Order: sequence, then structure tokens, then C-alpha cells
Amino acid sequence: MEILDNIAALNRFRPGAGEIVLIPTMGALHAGHEALIRRGARLAAGRGTCVVWIFVNPTQFNDPADFARYPKTLDADLAVCRSAGAGAVFVPSKDEIYPPGISVPVPDLPRVATEPGLEDAMRPGHFAGVCQVVLRFFELVKPKVAVFGEKDWQQLQVIRAMAKHATPQVEISPFPTVRESDGLAMSSRNRFLSAEERTRALAISRALTRAGEAGSQREAEAIMATVLGESGIQPEYAVVRDAETLQEVGAGARRALIAAKVGSVRLIDNQQWPKRR
Ligand code: PAF
Repeated sequence: MEILDNIAALNRFRPGAGEIVLIPTMGALHAGHEALIRRGARLAAGRGTCVVWIFVNPTQFNDPADFARYPKTLDADLAVCRSAGAGAVFVPSKDEIYPPGISVPVPDLPRVATEPGLEDAMRPGHFAGVCQVVLRFFELVKPKVAVFGEKDWQQLQVIRAMAKHATPQVEISPFPTVRESDGLAMSSRNRFLSAEERTRALAISRALTRAGEAGSQREAEAIMATVLGESGIQPEYAVVRDAETLQEVGAGARRALIAAKVGSVRLIDNQQWPKRR
């Protein structure tokens, strides 16, 4: 596995890499990322290379404290990439991605990044930073396919909408959320939960599962509020929305989405709604 720690190294690597399947990450890799990389390696088999990007993107953190404490575990991350079959890892410095004195463009944000009142409202500026860094990496790496996890459901819809417009040559491939055996969605932030908070956090996946059985959207949202409340969790949102636009429910597929702080740790999760029977 090649470790590409600057753009010049990436440019030397790319011509022999074939079609690139890109796995975007901010490091602190867990078993969910590992599954994503394995999928990328399978997609790339026989035609190209799976490249993992590791970069903690400062422009998408609306809370500087969250950025400062974001876990950095590069040696362990490289071991995960290697064992999951990555062909290369691209770990550029901040100055290479955002050269001092040069402004890196932020693409026009699609409506799903600004209108739903979910992550866009809770984390102002977040999707502008995500779109900026994703576009920058797409331009540098020139992937054929990029794999994004479904846990960040709104992010996945934002990137799909942005790519359709700005980089239609890149196929966006979604990957289902990987869960702990008790249902907790895997996240780099789970490591900050105390034992008591981790037990309470299980209410999030439980709320989504119970809501999946509800007969109406209103009932589903009431169930989520109740299940979370029983564990002392006040959600930022616990709603059912159109799965693609994240606007109020329309005729298409629907998704139940929750964001909540458990202690000081902000967690998000989502599930198709209603549950497939
Ligand atoms: O989902 C993430 O880890 C990040 O938002 C991403 C897509 C790597 C951009 O920094």
C-alpha cells in the first residue's frame, strides 16, 4: 500500500492506478470505515485501485472545540487501510489542500444543503465546508467512483446533488450504516461516550426501529420523541422526511432521521421509513 502524503506523490501514483475508487474519511477509522474500504477494494478489483483519503477538514467544523478534539490516530488508520485492501492512502497537509493566500472555491450548494432545517440548521457552514473539500479532492484524485456512508444521510444527498451538477463523471456509491451488535451506529465520536452515555445512546437506534413500525409519520415522530425522552435525550431533531430532498414528506421514499447530544457527544443516525416489511 502506497502512502501519498503530498499532491506531487499523488500525481506520480495516479497514471498507473487505473480507475480510482475513492473512500473519503477524516481518519479515526473504525469497523464501519473498514467495511467501506473493503467494498472500495472489491469495486476496484481488476480495474483499478482503492484510494483512501484521510484529512480532518477544518472548514466543515462549525465548532472549533469539536475540531480540536477530533481524534487523530494515523498509525492505526494506516493499519486498517492496509488490512482492508486499500492500494493507497492520500494524507495531504492542510496547506496543500488550502494553500495559504489562495481561496479554494466552494461550489453552489444544492437545496438539500440549505433548506431542510436539519444538519444545515444545526451546523451552519458545515455543508459548504464538506462540498468544498469533496470537490477539491475529486479534482485532485479524479476518481471514477466515491463511496460515502449512509450514516451521514443528509451529507450523502448533498454530495449526490452537488456531484450530479459539478462532477457528473464521478459515480457516488452509498454504503449502508455499520452498527455495533447492540444497534449503535458506528462513529468516530462513540469513543467519547462514557459507559452510562453509551447505554443511553442506544435509545437512538431503538427509536428509529420502533418508529419504523408506526402507521403514520406523526405517530413515528411521537414514538421517537418518547423513546429518546425515556433515556433523558432531548433530540435536536427526530423527524420523518423525503429521503432525497429531506423536505417535508412527498410522494417518494422516506427516511427517519435523528440528531441528539448524549452528554457532550453529538450523534446522528437514520433509517428507511417505514421499515421494509
Ligand atoms: O463524512 C466525512 O467523514 C467527511 O464529511 C468527509 C466526507 C470525509 C469530508 O471531510
